[in-house]
Amino acid sequence: MSKITIAIDGFSSTGKSTVAKQIANRLGYVYVDSGAMYRAVTFYAMQNGFIKENYFNAKALVANLKNITISFKFNPQLGFAEVYLNNRNVENEIRTLEVSNFVSKVAEISEVRQKLVEQQQHLGKQGGVVMDGRDIGTVVFPHAELKLFMTASAETRAKRRYSELIARGETVTYEAVLKNVQERDYIDTNREDSPLTKAEDAIEIDNSLMGLQEQFDKIMQLVKVTLKKEV
Ligand code: DC
Repeated sequence: MSKITIAIDGFSSTGKSTVAKQIANRLGYVYVDSGAMYRAVTFYAMQNGFIKENYFNAKALVANLKNITISFKFNPQLGFAEVYLNNRNVENEIRTLEVSNFVSKVAEISEVRQKLVEQQQHLGKQGGVVMDGRDIGTVVFPHAELKLFMTASAETRAKRRYSELIARGETVTYEAVLKNVQERDYIDTNREDSPLTKAEDAIEIDNSLMGLQEQFDKIMQLVKVTLKKEV
């Protein structure tokens, strides 16, 4: 059976990665979390002093892009590939609210996007990939056989993200998380380079009132229809 490319785009905290991992595992495809790559670059910038509170030296980050290597290694216990920054596992460190607060700024930089998009296209060259992000169906894989666009209200998404952060032991308020979600929505949809937008041929899924199983079943159904068309 031919292996297709599945592009999942949408706003932050729409549960893209959760369902994308499940779909990839069921199909035996590779899952790539493109947001993790932008987060890893942001974490690098923070560690190297290019980002501090109210300070962002974008020029220095761009000059140092050649020193950044991002890779993924499958963790069989977790059932997905974790992200590595210069050979160090940073899967947990990139998920903090601090990284979330800066990542959209980093993702605005064209040089950063160019480097990461190139790597993403390389990772998906053979097909059999589920990739989630903001520009996967529009820029990274404009010819993906199946494109999904996930949405949910900002409040629903903030509640989900808040519960995740609290479960991980972070001290955050719901209001701070909601503000971050709204700010990222704004920057992600208004930036000049590859803004978040629904590809014309993407299927929109509003999961505000959907459980995980329902989303999984709906997407698997769409996968089956797409695979039939490919035969
Ligand atoms: O999916 P996420 O929340 O982990 O993504 C982190 C940030 O990275 C998000 O605010 C926008 C950016 N991003 C992007 O610009 N393009 C992508 N393909 C993926 C993420």
